[in-house]
Amino acid sequence: MPDTTTKTVRVLFVCLGNICRSPMAEAVFREQVKEAGLSDRIDVESAGTGNWHVGHPPHSGTQKVLKANNIDVGSKRARQLTRSDFSEFDYIIAMDGENVDDIAAVFGRKVPRLLEFAPRGSTLDVPDPYYTGGFDEVYRLVQAGSRGLLQHIRQREGM
Ligand code: 4NP
Repeated sequence: MPDTTTKTVRVLFVCLGNICRSPMAEAVFREQVKEAGLSDRIDVESAGTGNWHVGHPPHSGTQKVLKANNIDVGSKRARQLTRSDFSEFDYIIAMDGENVDDIAAVFGRKVPRLLEFAPRGSTLDVPDPYYTGGFDEVYRLVQAGSRGLLQHIRQREGM
């Protein structure tokens, strides 16, 4: 008999360009899900509020830090957030307050930021490394936020 009690939980990370932070969060979270043995229960994707980089691979800085940490970057190509994402995903998670405001303005939905799930630190925003090049700091924050988010989802979904 099919098991009707298990459903797939879908998680979407969102940043501005979908080439630096949210593809990093996607890859890091997917790796944590895999380590937890939940790959068949949790799907992970990412998108950007902007459309400038649609179709582009992750930024070289994101690729480099993922590779250095033995995390598979996959074949990710940037895409823009759409209205249908709000019915298709169970958790939509922003990287910073600007993403939250942009999503509220365009889609009328309030989404949490990744670092709201991290142990209390000095910031709730994952800083944009596109201009600053701070990819190692972004990686550290994304790791912490992702761990907290996974714990939150496991509790909430009874996994
Ligand atoms: P992301 O970084 O939102 O972390 O992907 C950015 C990428 C591109 C731009 C800004 C931020 N941009 O202005 O093109």
